[in-house]
Amino acid sequence: MAPLLTSGLFRSDRYHFFSVLDSTNQQAARLAQEGAEPGTVVVADHQTGGRGRLGRPWSSPKGLHLYCSVVLRPAIPPRDAAQLTLVSGLAVAHTLAGIGVEDVEIKWPNDLLLKGRKVAGILTEMRTDPTRIQYVIVGIGLNVNGTETDFPEELRDKATTLADSLRTTLDRPWLLAKMLAQLDHWYGRFDREGFGPLGQEWLAFSRLLGQPVRVNMAADHFSGQALALDTEGCLLVRRANGMLTRVVAGDVTRLGEG
Ligand code: BTN
Repeated sequence: MAPLLTSGLFRSDRYHFFSVLDSTNQQAARLAQEGAEPGTVVVADHQTGGRGRLGRPWSSPKGLHLYCSVVLRPAIPPRDAAQLTLVSGLAVAHTLAGIGVEDVEIKWPNDLLLKGRKVAGILTEMRTDPTRIQYVIVGIGLNVNGTETDFPEELRDKATTLADSLRTTLDRPWLLAKMLAQLDHWYGRFDREGFGPLGQEWLAFSRLLGQPVRVNMAADHFSGQALALDTEGCLLVRRANGMLTRVVAGDVTRLGEG
């Protein structure tokens, strides 16, 4: 594996550890509003109001998993901020592959799956002026220890943990350090090169292309075939009627999966 380039984004004097928080994304946003530097990291052992995409709750029991949010202030237009979700997913995928987890899959745009079950999710939120980003918060929830029965009943057949896959309990600070090193590397590359060249790297963890998919967008839903990831990180899907749709935001599921 190629060596990780370090851009020095993360510094230990910008780490904030909590035993309990409403949500690390909320806390990171509060710190960002007070002027926190990019690379500020918020970690909690337990979240009472962990949030996922589309207002869904994120199961956040204490003592088991990683709940982590990072403050970024990228010099990119607001419309490109969603690319940070893909770049973060790539960093988490490399973290897992690097510790020996097999068959890591990224599901566009923000899920990491093992054998079809969700092991991590990413929630990217931002505050903008009319034309520029004030800050972006990237929140990562990674299911680390424990097993199926530690999840609420409705998630038991949908979620999984690293411990289940590796058959061992993992040290969360060790894992966090590995993940921050990967985030540092991939954010650095994104900063220098933009998303374009990272698309191929991202596709190495995706199983979408060429597959029949179901797309749920805010105002539309349809089935089609996933054709490509464009240079801005959007998914190109051909509908049954031949029309090509560029999916900027939404849920995309391979047909035949839940
Ligand atoms: C999703 O898959 O819907 C995204 C889940 C993101 C969960 C993480 S846990 C750390 C951070 N704090 C939150 O409240 N949410 C994110």
